[in-house]
Order: sequence, then C-alpha cells, then structure tokens
Amino acid sequence: MKTIQWGILSTGSIANTFAKTAAQMNGEIEIGAVASRNLPNAQAFAQTYGIKKAYGSYEQLATDPDIDIVYVATPHSRHFEDMMLLLTNGKHILCEKSFTVTADEARWIYNFAKEKNLLVIEAFWTKFLPIYRELEQRLASGVIGDIRMVTAQYGYQTSPARHERKMNPDLAGGALLDIGVYCIGFAAMILGYKPDEIRSLMHINEVGTDTQDAIILRYGNASAVLTSAIGINTPVNAVIFGTLGHIDVENFKNPQAFTIVLDSGDTERFELPFDVNGYEYQMREAVNCLNEGKIQSDIMTPKQSIGVMKIMDKARAKGGLRFPFEQG
Ligand SMILES: NC(=O)c1ccc[n+]([C@@H]2O[C@H](COP(=O)([O-])OP(=O)(O)OC[C@H]3O[C@@H](n4cnc5c(N)ncnc54)[C@H](OP(=O)(O)O)[C@@H]3O)[C@@H](O)[C@H]2O)c1
Repeated sequence: MKTIQWGILSTGSIANTFAKTAAQMNGEIEIGAVASRNLPNAQAFAQTYGIKKAYGSYEQLATDPDIDIVYVATPHSRHFEDMMLLLTNGKHILCEKSFTVTADEARWIYNFAKEKNLLVIEAFWTKFLPIYRELEQRLASGVIGDIRMVTAQYGYQTSPARHERKMNPDLAGGALLDIGVYCIGFAAMILGYKPDEIRSLMHINEVGTDTQDAIILRYGNASAVLTSAIGINTPVNAVIFGTLGHIDVENFKNPQAFTIVLDSGDTERFELPFDVNGYEYQMREAVNCLNEGKIQSDIMTPKQSIGVMKIMDKARAKGGLRFPFEQG
C-alpha cells in the first residue's frame, strides 16, 4: 500500500505540534510538504522537520499531485476558504477546531466533500482519545446512574506570541471558538448534539472579542454548565454528575485519567497514558479512514461536527457575539 502523503497548511503553533508529533510516530505519518503564506517560513519549517517540499503559497500545496491529505492549521476565519481550496483540488482534509465559523459553512464543506468523494475530519483531538471510549462505556453501564449534569471549565492566559490570533475578532478569535468549543464538544459527547435549550452570557471586549463565556445547555432533565475564558487561568476540568455519583475528568481536553466517585463512598481511578502526546490518535484515524476508503470518521462524524457548530451559532447569537466580517 502506498504511504499516505500529508501536507501541512500553515507554520503556526499547532502546525509545529503536528509535525513534532508525526516525528515521534515511527514513520506512521509521512509529511511530504508544508505551505506558508511566506516561503522562508515554510522553508525553515521544512528544514526543522525534514520535510521535502516547502511552498510559499497555500495554492501550491493544494495543487501538489503527490499530496493526499492536508492538515489545516490556520485561524478559524480561514478554515472555510482553505478547505474549499483543498477540496476543489481533490485533497482529503484533517481540519483544526473550531471547524468553521458557522454551522452553514460546516454543512457546505461536508456536502462538497461528499460530492467530491473526499475525506474531511474535524481535528477535534479530544474526541479521538481512546480514554473517551472507556468513559463512554462506563457511562453506558450506568455506573453513576442517570446523568443529570455536566460541568466543564477552561480558562487560560495567552502568551504574547499567540495573543494576536486568539484575541483578533477578524480571525474569529476569542474564548468560544478557541476553547469554549472543547467544553461544548465534551458536553455534546456526553449528553448529545441537540440540546433542547441554550443560554449564553458573554463578556465582549472593546475590540469585539469574547473573553469570558458562560453557556448552559439543557437536555430534558439534564444540563451542562460550561465556562471558558481567555485572560484568567482556571483548572481545565470537567465533571459528569449522575444520580449515583460523579466522574471527575482531569484536563478534559486531553485527559489521561478519570476518577469515578460513587455516593456510596467507593472510588475508582482509571488511567490510560498517551502513546505520544494525544495528537497521534486523530492522525491515525484519518489514515485508517483513507485506507478503508471512508469519507467520514465514525469517531467525529460530520453530523457531530455540524452539531457543535450549531450550538456555537446559537451561543453566539444569544451572547451577542458577531465577528466584524459578519456585520452589516
Ligand atoms: N488541537 C489543539 O490542541 C489546538 C491548539 C492550538 C490551536 N488549535 C487550532 O489550530 C488553529 C491554528 O491555531 P494556532 O494556535 O496554531 O495559530 P497560530 O500559531 O497563530 O498559527 C496560525 C497560522 O495560520 C497562518 N495564517 C494564515 N492566515 C493568517 C492570518 N490572517 N493571520 C494569522 N495567521 C494566519 C499562519 O501561517 P503561515 O504564516 O505559515 O501561513 C499562522 O502561523 C486554530 O483553529 C486553533 O483553534 C488547536
């Protein structure tokens, strides 16, 4: 079987993490090319990671006939146009979260990919971690009874180097699309992708960036209470509460352990360390899908990806957040 050739679109922070992770995967992932808007950046990136080809435009990567699948690691505001460019040129895609800016864009991408018979997966890395399959099984077994509440919080200070993308509303930066999406994705994984009701309160700064978000999702008699913030550090944790106890998920965006705490007093800690750093599972899933001729992942399906975007659309509408490019 021909080794799948990956391309990386952008040379930013998570693009570096992708390349570093691939370098630790013993040849499982072969990166054939990298593209930047700026050739010297692409060349420096290629040299660091031993990548054969470096391009000074995204179009050159999209039209490279040797590249099978491209990892999209640009700001949120660009995901739609970058994916359209790649799909038009016949490339499969693994695209960073937040997948697009709106649910409509996400729907459009998955429909176009289906028409072109191309694989598109949202790189919602949390979802691909094997520990979550274990957690799902435990929940399905009823160990904590009926699930009534999920809480998740994630807040952090940006480093100056990453401040621009994260705080710039023109790039669809801000707490919701950057990290609130993890809280929503977690709640949706546990309670479902179609809440009955959505409440949202957002702090929006003077340039139009949401810096603190509090979102509540109601599903029948269960609810999810989700907070995200840029500018304050909070513990990154989630708790699932049931009628018989709860489960603490430490560092829920990339956990290696969870603890079941029953009201009876019994506790159980389950640990599952990463093979590399957690990013390897989404890459493996993309490779498996391609090898099996699939155009969607069963782990993060298009429906789920669109479902998360729909929740985010509503949370933004209720929180009063519109990006500058959506005004007018
Ligand atoms: N899964 C995770 O753990 C994780 C972590 C961080 C971020 N992310 C996601 O990954 C994506 C990228 O985040 P990042 O933190 O890597 O961002 P970043 O460090 O700012 O890098 C983004 C890259 O996109 C390219 N780009 C294209 N148009 C741009 C524009 N108008 N302004 C700025 N950069 C532009 C640039 O690469 P060139 O100059 O080379 O073209 C830039 O280096 C986002 O969707 C983010 O949510 C995921």
